[in-house]
This record gives sequence, structure tokens and C-alpha cells, in this order.
Amino acid sequence: MPPRVALTPGRPLQPDPWPPLSRPPPPGTAGKRAPAERLAGAHRLVVVSNRVAMGDPAGKSAGGLAVGILAALKRSGGIWFGWSGEVSDAPPAAAEIAQNDEITYATLDLARTDYEQYYNGFANRVLWPLFHYRPGLVEYQRADFAGYQRVNRQFAAHLAPLLRPHDLIWVHDYHLMPLADELRRRGVRQPIGFFLHTPFPPAELFRILPCHAELMRAMCAYDLVGFQTGGDIAGFRDYLLRWAGAQPDGAESLTACGRRQRLAAFPIGIDVEAIAGQSRQSAVARQMRRLQESLRQRQLIIGVDRLDYSKGLPQRFKAFERVLELFPEVRGQVTLMQIAPPTRSEVPEYTQIRRILETAAGHINGRFAEFDWMPLRYLNKSFNHRTLCGFLRAARVGLVTPLRDGMNLVAKEYVAAQDPEDPGALVLSCFAGAAEELGDALLVNPFDADGVAEAIHEALVMPREERVARWQSMMAVLRRNDIAAWRESFVAALAAAARAR
Ligand code: UDP
Ligand code: G6P
Repeated sequence: MPPRVALTPGRPLQPDPWPPLSRPPPPGTAGKRAPAERLAGAHRLVVVSNRVAMGDPAGKSAGGLAVGILAALKRSGGIWFGWSGEVSDAPPAAAEIAQNDEITYATLDLARTDYEQYYNGFANRVLWPLFHYRPGLVEYQRADFAGYQRVNRQFAAHLAPLLRPHDLIWVHDYHLMPLADELRRRGVRQPIGFFLHTPFPPAELFRILPCHAELMRAMCAYDLVGFQTGGDIAGFRDYLLRWAGAQPDGAESLTACGRRQRLAAFPIGIDVEAIAGQSRQSAVARQMRRLQESLRQRQLIIGVDRLDYSKGLPQRFKAFERVLELFPEVRGQVTLMQIAPPTRSEVPEYTQIRRILETAAGHINGRFAEFDWMPLRYLNKSFNHRTLCGFLRAARVGLVTPLRDGMNLVAKEYVAAQDPEDPGALVLSCFAGAAEELGDALLVNPFDADGVAEAIHEALVMPREERVARWQSMMAVLRRNDIAAWRESFVAALAAAARAR
């Protein structure tokens, strides 16, 4: 669990404590309002997610949601409501309020039973595996679903009194699917949008969930549901049309449970210039010098993933082993550095994957290492974003091979962190949402160890001109669809969906 970050001391909740979204412009920018303010007009943006990042989310293995929302809210300002990251003995009496730059945080602790049933149980042992196409890992218990609903009710009960009439409410991810329904029951009429950071499975997989009907009935309370890719929309829409009696209403909308709802894709982006800047700056940092010295001119292959079974790490290690088998000339010439901070460590499947990887890493090093070379560096720790960006820039190959991923921000960050004159090459799973935008990566099927090994080798020997051409084309996509575009397009669509209603 991330520690509570020291901010401006929290104060007890007042009836209407929020600063307006539209602030006076900073000196010298009079008349040039920030795009989000133009889009949101007089609206205040209220973001709700389970995980909340106070300050720098990195170093706490917070994941893409926290990194993305923080980058999005930094520019527009707004409120971020969610779990404090703390587990306490009793249910929370009130939200803790803190202000950090443009963002007002309102966070709740979770009671121990809620943490077990809602977070470890239903969210991370049912929805997470199911949404990542792993029904065999689903451990459903009615009590966990009841805990999930209870926490969603608590979130709604604490959030509803804080809302103002012109707020736009943006709910994130699979932990909070019933939240809009709970808010509507409390009389909340403001536009409410939902964005799913993970994949959404095909309807037939979703139906494995014993409470599928109840969950999807609750989802009808949203005005807008956003996904990472068109494939995710297809599963959701198909379910509503076939199993929830929804009626199509134009290409992107439908009416379900008496409510019109828009479904659309909003692939999350990154703050391209910030990443590029950080990677340039940290290229000269002390840690980078240490890394370079330790590599001794060897080419670096890098992987950065939470230690999650969806990331395909055992398959990735296997593929690296195949590189060393199939292309013996690279032995002694390359190093794979896999950064894998532990995550959700109280969930048994995560303990298992950790054990599997320790064995696999030991096996590869035992088999191939020489007295002066270790093929694999396997690190169970997290790094702050700045350091990470430097590491990404130093790597000739970025290895991003999840078995299934909503987007995968690391793939995008790897590209943005590269040296324009001499960029590395990205090897990317075709099952990551990012593959839809990054067609100029070397796309691979992570289940095909030989195929991934060949792509890694191709990346290692790729001529500079080809690396530059691929990088330029991927950067153009990332710049077009950056984190600000993601926030602006979602907020605009939410406002429009609510007007249409
Ligand atoms: N990250 C980080 N430090 C680490 C490991 C990861 O800051 O040690 C960040 C990484 O840069 C990225 C995010 O965590 O922004 C991971 O997001 P991604 O979408 O790749 O995967 P997720 O963890 O959300 O499944
Ligand atoms: C993924 C999920 C997020 C989650 C993150 C880290 O990105 O989509 O909702 O916050 O992983 O996981 P955690 O359980 O630590 O919040």
C-alpha cells in the first residue's frame, strides 16, 4: 500500500470547499484560457477513481491510471476523489481534504473488510482477470461482490454532498462500475461519464460473471462510457444489445434501461513533451552514468511492468532465452533489464507469479551467465518517472509484451523518451491497446516465443535510418493524441452526451 503523502494538512469537510475550475489566468496569459477550461466552460471536473496519486505516483508502482489522471488534472485542475491507500479499523467518517497545486484531493480510508472484499476480492480476483481474458483465474464469491457494492455506496454517500449543480463527474476503472447508479439513487443529475482503463472482454466471457446482469444494469446510469479501443466497445455493446435489451440509437449510442448512453473510444495518451524533457535531463544524471558504466557498451533491452500476470513476463523471459539460443552471437553483447515492482501482493495469484519469475530469472542467468556478464537483471522495485525516462532512453530495445493490456503507457513512454537522432526500437504485443496506434513498432504475438525472439533480434540489428523513420511516425501519433487531447475529448463528449440527454 502506498504511504500517505504529506501534503497541506487535511481539514474537515466543509459543505462547499472547492475552488472553481475556472481560475484567474496566470500572469501574462490573460485572454488565453487553458483548453480544458474552454471545453468545460463553467463546469468543474470531478474525477473519481479507486487509486489516487498525491504528488508523484511513480516510485509507488501506482500504474497507468494514476500517472494518466495526474498528468491530465495537472493542467486543468479539478477534484480527485478516491481511496487514500490506507486501511483502517472502522469505516471512514468523512473524506480527508488536501490541496496540491491545481488539484483538490478528497480521499477515504477503507475498512479492513472492505479492502479485502472490494479491492483484493471482487476488483482484483474477479474483474481484473476476467477483463484480461483470464477466466481460469476468476475467484468469485458473493460476499466479495456485496463488499464491492458496499464500497461503491460509501463512495457515493461521501461524494454526493460535495457536488455542485454544474459539475462534470468522470469515474475511472473497474473498481467503480456501480458508482453512477449509486449517485443517481441519491438524486445526482449531473453528467456522469465512465472510462475503463482495462480491456473489456467479449460478451460471452463477461457472462461468466454470476452478477453480470446486475453490474451492467448499474452501468446504464452513465451518460458516456469510454474505452481504450474499438474492440473493447464491441464487447460491451454486444452484451447490452444481446443480453440487456438495449436498442441501438445511431452508430455510437444506444438506449438501455430507459437511458441514452454514448459509447466511444478515447485511447489514453501521455505528456509527450514532459517525458521527452525528463529523459533528456536524466540522461546526464548520476544514476544514468552508473547504468552506462555497468553496461560496458552492451546493448540494453528494457522491460518495465507492474509484477502482474497480465504483463506476460514468464513468456517474455522465455523469448529472451530463445534469443540467446537462436542468436548465439549476441551472448555477452546484450542485457535485459526487467523492472517489475510488486503490486497487489496480498492477492495469491500475484504471489505465484512472483515465485515463477524468480525461478525463471535464476534459470536464465544460471544457464547463460559468464563470470563477467549477466544476461538478465531482474529488479523488484519501482523507480520515479524521471529516472525511468532516462533508463528508457538508454535502451536500444523497449520490450512491451503483455498477454492483454488496456493501453500500456510504458510503450508510449518508451517512444517519447528516445533520442531523435538515434532512437531505439519498440517490440510491442499486438494485444496491448497501444498497438492500435503504434503500428510502426515491431508487433508480436507474446505467446509465440520464437516470433518475439526474432523481433528482439531484428530490433537489435535494425539500421539507424529505419529506427528513425519508425520513431518519427510513432511520435507524430503520440503528439496528436497526447494526454491533454484525451482529457479534452472525453470532457467534451461528456458535456455533449449530457446535452443530448
Ligand atoms: N511506472 C513508474 N515507475 C516504475 C514502474 C512503472 O513510474 O517503477 C509507471 C510507468 O512509467 C507508467 C505506469 O507506471 O506510466 C504504468 O502504466 P501502464 O499503462 O504501462 O501499466 P499499468 O501498470 O497501468 O497496468
Ligand atoms: C491498472 C489499473 C488501475 C490501477 C493500476 C495499479 O492500471 O487499470 O486501475 O490503479 O493498475 O493497480 P493498483 O491495484 O495498485 O491500483
